[in-house]
Amino acid sequence: MIIIRKFKPSDFRWVIDIERKVFDEHDPYLYMQFYETYPESFVVAEINGFVVGYVAGFMAKEGVGRVFSLAVHPSYQNRGVGGNLLKEIIWVLQRFGVTEIILEVRSGNIRARRFYERHGFRQIGIKEKYYNDAENACLMKLEIK
Ligand SMILES: CC(C)(COP(=O)(O)OP(=O)(O)OC[C@H]1O[C@@H](n2cnc3c(N)ncnc32)[C@H](O)[C@@H]1OP(=O)(O)O)[C@@H](O)C(=O)NCCC(=O)NCCS
Repeated sequence: MIIIRKFKPSDFRWVIDIERKVFDEHDPYLYMQFYETYPESFVVAEINGFVVGYVAGFMAKEGVGRVFSLAVHPSYQNRGVGGNLLKEIIWVLQRFGVTEIILEVRSGNIRARRFYERHGFRQIGIKEKYYNDAENACLMKLEIK
């Protein structure tokens, strides 16, 4: 059973472990800073007492939410954890009053792009050489009715 709940500081080591496994660029301190700034919109997924995924979102400006980072431990992917996390952050941001949610994803990350599209996000632009290794980012947006 998947439990979706708010991040707490003792989850930090799990989040960093997942981040190291799935992303090429790492900045553990960003997550602690994120929690200090946006504690209400940092959410984790727990299975059998283990944190297996997280999503961090925030309200970037009035009416506009952003997904800062979303990841699921490789051993727990493809069983609905990411989808549950994304639905939760959409719901949290919606409660803050956002009417659209924006995110960036590596243009080569076809799996994540398809995942976001399945959840209603549409590509609205490209940010050229957005990442440290010069890969482009796809800018995606979800309109909330
Ligand atoms: C993108 C990512 C977050 C998706 O997480 P996930 O837990 O695998 O997502 P889900 O299981 O909800 O959905 C993945 C697929 O599993 C399938 N699936 C969902 N629930 C399922 C279930 N109960 N049983 C079997 N398959 C299922 C869906 O068909 C879905 O397909 P889709 O990707 O075409 O939409 C994950 O792959 C990840 O962490 N990737 C690395 C980090 C990353 O790229 N993050 C996004 C960029 S910031």
